[in-house]
Amino acid sequence: MKCVMVTGGAGFIGSNFVHHLLENHDYSVIVLDKLTYAGNLDNLKDVIEDERVSFVKGDICDSRAVGECMKDADCVVHFAAETHVDRSIMDAGVFVQTDVFGTFILLEAARKHGISKFLHISTDEVYGEASSGPSKETDPLMPKSPYAASKAGADRLAYSYHVTHNLPVVITRCTNNYGPYQYPEKLIPLFVTNAMKDKELPVYGSGENTRDWIHVQDHCEVLDTIMHQDGLEGEVLNVGSGVEKSVLEIADVILEELDKAKSLLKHVEDRKGHVVRHAVSTSKIKEKLGWEPRFSFEDGMKATIQWYSQNEWWWSKLKNRQFEEYYQTLHEKAK
Ligand code: NAD
Ligand code: TYD
Repeated sequence: MKCVMVTGGAGFIGSNFVHHLLENHDYSVIVLDKLTYAGNLDNLKDVIEDERVSFVKGDICDSRAVGECMKDADCVVHFAAETHVDRSIMDAGVFVQTDVFGTFILLEAARKHGISKFLHISTDEVYGEASSGPSKETDPLMPKSPYAASKAGADRLAYSYHVTHNLPVVITRCTNNYGPYQYPEKLIPLFVTNAMKDKELPVYGSGENTRDWIHVQDHCEVLDTIMHQDGLEGEVLNVGSGVEKSVLEIADVILEELDKAKSLLKHVEDRKGHVVRHAVSTSKIKEKLGWEPRFSFEDGMKATIQWYSQNEWWWSKLKNRQFEEYYQTLHEKAK
C-alpha cells in the first residue's frame, strides 16, 4: 500500500487517524474534507506541512473532486459525514445528502478506480436501542435518529457494493469515541469546556442514558489493523470498549477532575427519540483480530480532560457566535 485517501480527515476521528497513520506508516495520505462547521484545519496543524500529506478542500458529493483524489489512492478510509444527532433532529436534509449520497459517490469512484480496500466507518447507532443486550453484527438495524438512519443507509449501500460489484468493502460500527479534537457540541468536550468556564452542563432528561465509551486512539489502532488484514471483505465489525457509562456518571468524572460543583448540572428537556442504551458485542473482532482496547476509561478520561484544559486555544475559537446561536436554538427548541 502506498497511498491512503481519508475522507473527513479534518474532523475528530479522521484527524486522529491521519496522525496515527503518519506516526506508524510511510504512506501518502490524501485528505478530502469539505471543512463544514465540524471540520477544522487546526486538527491537522502539526502534520499539514508533512510532505506525505495532501489536503483537498472538497465535498464527497462532488464526483469530480472525489475522482481527482481517488485516482492516486490504493485504500479509502471513509469518515466524512454529518455526525451530530441533535442537528439531525433540527435539520435532516444534509445528513441524507452527505451520509447517504456522498457515500454513493465514493463507492462509485472506488469501483471505477479499482480501490484495493474501502473501509467504511459506520456507527453502533445503526442498531438503535441495545435493550436486550449488546448489539451483535447480525442484529437488525433499527436506527432511531435521522443521523443514525442516514448512516444505516450508507452502511447497507457500502455492503451492497461488495455483494453486487465485489468492491473490497469492510464496515466498522464503533461506539462513542472521546479524546482530543472532538468538536465541543458532543457530550464530553461540551461538558468539559462548559465546566471549565463554570457554565451549566445540560443533562437531557434523567441523564441515565448509557453509551459505550472508547478512546479515539484505541479506535484508530483497530482501524489500522483492519486496513492491513486480508479476508475481511464484506464483513461488518463492531468496535467498542465494553465500558458503559451514563451521562450522569460522565458528568461526575468531569466535575470531580476539574474540582467543580455538582450545582453546574442542569436537567433539561429530553432529546426527541433519545436512545436509552447503545452497546455492542465485540466478540467477533476479538476473535478475528485478537484486539483489545488499551485505554482504561479512567486513564482515557483523565488524559482527555487534561487535553482540553491545556488546549483552550483550540476549542475557544470553536465556541464562537455561530456555536452560541446553534446552542441557544437547540435549547430553545427543546423547551
Ligand atoms: P466529525 O463531525 O468530527 O467530522 C466529520 C468531518 O467530515 C468534518 O471534518 C467535516 O468537515 C467532514 N465533512 C462533512 N461533510 C462533508 C462532505 N460533504 N464532504 C467532505 N467532508 C465532509 O465526525 P467524527 O466524530 O470524527 O466521525 C467520523 C465518522 O465516524 C463519521 O462517519 C461518524 O458517523 C463515525 N462515528 C463517529 C463516532 C463518534 O463517537 N464520534 C462513533 C462511531 C462512528
Ligand atoms: P452525544 O455526544 O451527542 O452522542 P450520541 O448522541 O451520538 O450518543 O451524546 C451522548 C449522550 O449524552 C446522549 O445520551 C445524549 C447526552 N447528552 C446530554 O445529556 N447533554 C448534552 O448536552 C449532549 C450534547 C448530550
